Amino acid sequence: MEKIVSLCKRRGFIFQSSEIYGGINGFWDFGPLGAELRKNIRDCWWNDMVRGRDDVVGLESAIIMHPKVWEASGHVAGFNDPMVDCKVSKQRFRADQLFFASVIVDGRAAGYVSALESEKTAEDLQEKAETFKRKKALAGKLEPVQPRDFTQAKPDEIPLIPSPATGEAGSLTAPRAFNMMLQTWVGALRDESATAYLRPETAQGMFADFKAIVDTGRVKIPFGIAQIGKSFRNEITPRNFIFRSREFEQMEMEFFISDQDDWARWHRYWIDWCRAWLVSVGIPAARLSEYNHPREKLSHYSKGTTDIMFQFPFGPQELWGIAARGNYDLSQHAKFSGVAMEYFDDATRRKYVPHVVEPAVGVDRIMLAILCSAYAEDEAPDEKGKMESRVVLRFAPRIAPVKAAIFPLLKNKPELVATAKQVRDLLRPHLNVFYDEAGAIGRRYRRQDEIGTPFCVTIDFDTLGEKGGELRDTVTVRDRDTMKQERLKISKLLEFLLSKIR
Ligand code: GAP
Repeated sequence: MEKIVSLCKRRGFIFQSSEIYGGINGFWDFGPLGAELRKNIRDCWWNDMVRGRDDVVGLESAIIMHPKVWEASGHVAGFNDPMVDCKVSKQRFRADQLFFASVIVDGRAAGYVSALESEKTAEDLQEKAETFKRKKALAGKLEPVQPRDFTQAKPDEIPLIPSPATGEAGSLTAPRAFNMMLQTWVGALRDESATAYLRPETAQGMFADFKAIVDTGRVKIPFGIAQIGKSFRNEITPRNFIFRSREFEQMEMEFFISDQDDWARWHRYWIDWCRAWLVSVGIPAARLSEYNHPREKLSHYSKGTTDIMFQFPFGPQELWGIAARGNYDLSQHAKFSGVAMEYFDDATRRKYVPHVVEPAVGVDRIMLAILCSAYAEDEAPDEKGKMESRVVLRFAPRIAPVKAAIFPLLKNKPELVATAKQVRDLLRPHLNVFYDEAGAIGRRYRRQDEIGTPFCVTIDFDTLGEKGGELRDTVTVRDRDTMKQERLKISKLLEFLLSKIR
């Protein structure tokens, strides 16, 4: 993971926000290549989800909505995480991410150890239990630890569990509910009547505008409303780079179906659609799995939720959630706004509140999954054919920030430079291309490999016809992954690149 974080910073994909002031936890900036990569992720999703289908329409709703929206959705009352404070270090932890275990020696409880959740929580706790036993000079057999999360700590255990920040017991508070919505005030007053929230999900925009879209959009059930936009959550512990942030971007789609339709069929349909889409942007199917939320953990209105999990370097984690939400959201908005959220079916002359299946994903999580999937280290020949190690991002061409790099073989030959710039200008209206004349060709290849450019186009003396007319107006195209080069006519170049990139 460290190698990916360092590459992202070095090559201008991702920076800590406000770094010159020491940064601000949970907020990120996306540099020139990061901005391109994100735009490609959004465009691919929008093209496939909205423009490529007859049954999904797009929406851009406001980030700040009427505060009653969040009462109706249940976020004001229930969008909470359990929070634990360490009174000594002043650090805060999410109780369900703070693990502890009793240290049991010869069947007797000798104390407690704690660790923050990671891909090796149980090993960490076991190691800490061994250290505890050694430090206290306890004789006897240490039992394997049984990790529990802090929400399961009994009141009499809490004062005995060490804080992961200090290693000492006695400073952790009991968990309490912490609402994750970020608040602001709208207008000149700063009282309760002016309180508003930065949306914690884009989904409520689709529910609140459902009627407006049905009345104006000529849509017929089953149909979906899709949106891409920023969401905000005051996460207690933002972590794992851009995996969990306080400001992030969501791509959500609410797919409305008849109350008499088979929701499970649509749920499966959208899970399969999302998995296929992830593969189409370069995420290997082998790193994806599914997690079905157990019935007892679902909200009362939910019929079923499945997370598509991705094998991140820090363990398998939720990438995309696909939830069957019944008619809960529309019914709640009808109740709180007094506006009927019914759909009238012309064919059956029946009115009903539609049910919904919602695939919801974050641009940031997809970006991280793509970066983790693409990162590779292998060997490539240098100028003299000697093998050297290279770092390469094997982005799927449709998602790569730069599609093709254009090189004149030498920068001090005006004819090569002029032709290379002509080739750049020929491609530029259709593809994001990058012109580079600095340094040896091998170095230039390495720089493009590191940012995942799938094709490098070199303009050499053959292009100018110096070795005979046959090769005149041809260029070499080098493939990032096979490192093979082929010669192509300039007149065929655009068609060739477009066929590889689509
Ligand atoms: N409307 C349903 C909803 O928002 P969610 O599981 O809370 O469901 C959906 O969020 C997706 O948004 C997640 O699967 C994840 O990809 C992304 N996401 C949620 N919280 C995030 C955070 N703090 N940082 C980055 N991405 C996040």
